[in-house]
Amino acid sequence: MKKIAVFTSGGDAPGMNACIRAVVRSTIRFGHEAVGIYRGYQGMIEGDFELMERYSVSNIIQLGGTILRSARSDDFRTKEGRAKAYEQLKKADIDGVVAIGGDGTFTGARVFMEEYPDIAIVGCPGTIDNDLFGTDYTIGYDTAINTAMQAIDNIKDTANAHDRLFFVEVMGRDAGFIALRAGLATGAEEVLIPETITNMDSLVKKLNEDYRRKKNSSIVVVAEGDDAGGAFDIAKVVKEACPYETKVTILGHLQRGGRPTCMDRVRASNMGVSAVKALLEGKKGVMIGEIKGEIVHTPFENAIKHNMSINPMLLEMVEILA
Ligand code: F6P
Repeated sequence: MKKIAVFTSGGDAPGMNACIRAVVRSTIRFGHEAVGIYRGYQGMIEGDFELMERYSVSNIIQLGGTILRSARSDDFRTKEGRAKAYEQLKKADIDGVVAIGGDGTFTGARVFMEEYPDIAIVGCPGTIDNDLFGTDYTIGYDTAINTAMQAIDNIKDTANAHDRLFFVEVMGRDAGFIALRAGLATGAEEVLIPETITNMDSLVKKLNEDYRRKKNSSIVVVAEGDDAGGAFDIAKVVKEACPYETKVTILGHLQRGGRPTCMDRVRASNMGVSAVKALLEGKKGVMIGEIKGEIVHTPFENAIKHNMSINPMLLEMVEILA
């Protein structure tokens, strides 16, 4: 392998820096040259590359965001854009790439490798959403659920003080993993996620019963992709039919930033080293994952198509414990 490049793409996730560090340092350690590609696929098209040394990734393991920055590139969706990216990689003597990102990143990598099979790409799952098949945990998820949990804890204090019902919206366009874990960890009364159908009548009924039982405050965690709408839409319907004073908080991008947890740093480091090893063993077109503590390789097409399913036991727990 001539040179191994690394880039981050799509929504940033805490732990991406730890993964970049692991890719750069293990590449150098195994006797190869490491290159950083800035701004994801867009930077690949524009040749925004930098040769990385060991010290280029010093002091970043504890940082959220990504030192290589990230982007969602429309140009890479076109054949011409991908042709330019290929030219840039060839010109820079790069024949191995580690892509850190989510389903959009691996969809792009798959198409690119079909057109240009002489470039080997291996993926590391970097997304707070935890929605990739082939890994129990994605890089950033653990930090995001802890951030969401702390924010909801704070909201619970004020909800209690004022006898209020709060709808808290967490991220997860297509997946309810953040909502479910953060909701369980904070003792939420309800968790609404895109994987299950939200029944507004039974939600209103339950909240009214809680009110009659003199439950003074309630928290409903809503995943942004819930089928009944966002937290504002749902709260509007509930407000009309339920006597609670109702408030809405959207946690939004605060869940994407912050210092990665210990688990995210260690997991990201392990995945980064494993991705380089995979490339050096001649593997390509696979995402590195961790299942039951073991490193596994899943072809991109499976990682993106077979969405992770929600554990029904966790859903049942919300109901039993609320
Ligand atoms: O995929 C990660 C994610 O944070 C989703 O949870 C969210 O829906 C989306 O990215 C937001 O994207 P953007 O930062 O482009 O608004």
